[in-house]
Amino acid sequence: MGSSKEILEQAEALIERGGADCLQELCGLLRRERPHYNWVGFYFVEGNELVLGPFVGAPSPHVRIPIGKGICGAAVAERQTVVVPDVNADPRYLACSLQTKSEIVVPIEAGGRILGEIDIDSHTPDAFGPDDRALLEELARRLAPLLASARAR
Ligand code: SME
Repeated sequence: MGSSKEILEQAEALIERGGADCLQELCGLLRRERPHYNWVGFYFVEGNELVLGPFVGAPSPHVRIPIGKGICGAAVAERQTVVVPDVNADPRYLACSLQTKSEIVVPIEAGGRILGEIDIDSHTPDAFGPDDRALLEELARRLAPLLASARAR
């Protein structure tokens, strides 16, 4: 299991290389390096909805989520990271897999707008601590220009 610094270096190399597979490969990188990340994916803001992008893990029934619904929608509405240590105790939670016990959602912001988010589910209760949050928020900052340029095209 690599350090956060090593993961960010590998992520940076993928981001610099760019290309269509970049986000898919980032999902794989996080999944490999952090065994408690059982589902890793991206959602993109499109109008009033979040639309599922690249992911690794079990297929999710939530391909489109209205902003404000679910943990994913809450993170956009609140414009901040949402950590849920026990998804079954959170009435906002939209179930993806019965195995999921905890979740973190980190918005990706550029130019004052939320363009998307990183969503991670874990089969472990209370899986996400300050290190996970710091790693994923830094990754979101580094990904912001990529999402902004994809949107501009
Ligand atoms: N649990 C999320 C839905 C997406 S799946 O986890 C992939 C939510 O409550 O918004």
